[in-house]
Amino acid sequence: MSESIIVSGSTKKEKYESLLPQIKALVKGETDSIANLSNIIAALKFGMDYFWVGIYFVKQSSGNKYELVLGPFQGPVACTRIAYGKGVCGKSWETKQTIIVEDVDKFPGHIACSSLSKSEIVLPAFDKDGEVKLILDIDSEHLASFDETDKIYLEKVIKIIENI
Ligand code: SME
Repeated sequence: MSESIIVSGSTKKEKYESLLPQIKALVKGETDSIANLSNIIAALKFGMDYFWVGIYFVKQSSGNKYELVLGPFQGPVACTRIAYGKGVCGKSWETKQTIIVEDVDKFPGHIACSSLSKSEIVLPAFDKDGEVKLILDIDSEHLASFDETDKIYLEKVIKIIENI
């Protein structure tokens, strides 16, 4: 494993192309999923210079109730629990879709963990039965930071996450 992530390129596409093999190398040979997720989150945060990057796990809270619970993240402290269908994360879990939010103030029910967050992208990762097992949430301090390029490359990161 290299000691640091060095992202080259000027366009977003070039940066992701540079980062992806480094993320694959980071998790190679390590079997602990929390260790691997933590390093992937750090690589995305510092490689791409996002404001906040983190995981929410789908966890059983009581009885048949499931919630999203905060996992490894980099950035300011965040909300610990999110209900099914609530906020962008809960909506991504419910719809099983990647959601891009150009302006968080215009997303009905958006949960503001930090007032500095202006746009976000949220992606679900699935278990072997096709159920959502976790959510990857990335926030930016700028409006409309995320587009189809982020979706394409971050869904590749999700494939790595699904296999660790
Ligand atoms: N904004 C998210 C909540 C998580 S924080 O952004 C870290 C949402 O609406 O689900």
